[in-house]
Amino acid sequence: MSKMAVIYWSMSGNTEAMASAIAEGARGAGAEVDLMQVSEVSVDQALSYPLLALGCPAMGAEVLEESEFEPFFAQLEGRLSGKKVALFGSYGWGDGQWMRDWQARTEGANANLYQEGLMVNETPDDAALEQCRAFGAGFAAF
Ligand SMILES: Cc1cc2nc3c(=O)[nH]c(=O)nc-3n(C[C@H](O)[C@H](O)[C@H](O)COP(=O)(O)O)c2cc1C
Repeated sequence: MSKMAVIYWSMSGNTEAMASAIAEGARGAGAEVDLMQVSEVSVDQALSYPLLALGCPAMGAEVLEESEFEPFFAQLEGRLSGKKVALFGSYGWGDGQWMRDWQARTEGANANLYQEGLMVNETPDDAALEQCRAFGAGFAAF
């Protein structure tokens, strides 16, 4: 059984809703999943999972949230080589630049990136939640 960590930061709950649906989809596909806020997990712990799904909304000006998530990812980044990683997050008025930059960093770290990062505009509706479940199920089999 594949072991997956779904690690996220969320201020107003949108990325959290995505994270829960991704975890649900992955569990439905047979993965063993731990769903955690970024403040609850160390970099070493995160790296102990073969599958790492990371969620953070667009914050600041098209960047990752700067007080918790960015420091976490910055530490993880140098150790992602060969790691199976999926990225997701909610955004507002932007065009997804934060996700393109995040993907480029992840690929630059030689991680094994699953698909394109999954983006949802603001609060995920039923269709977006279904997309999240499918994303989680697909990542479980990656
Ligand atoms: C301080 C702040 C900065 C934001 N910066 C951006 C941004 O640069 N680009 C964007 O598309 N949305 C931006 N947003 C919108 C959030 O990404 C969006 O509301 C998202 O759904 C929040 O996710 P959450 O509920 O998981 O916190 C920003 C929101 C806040 C509060």
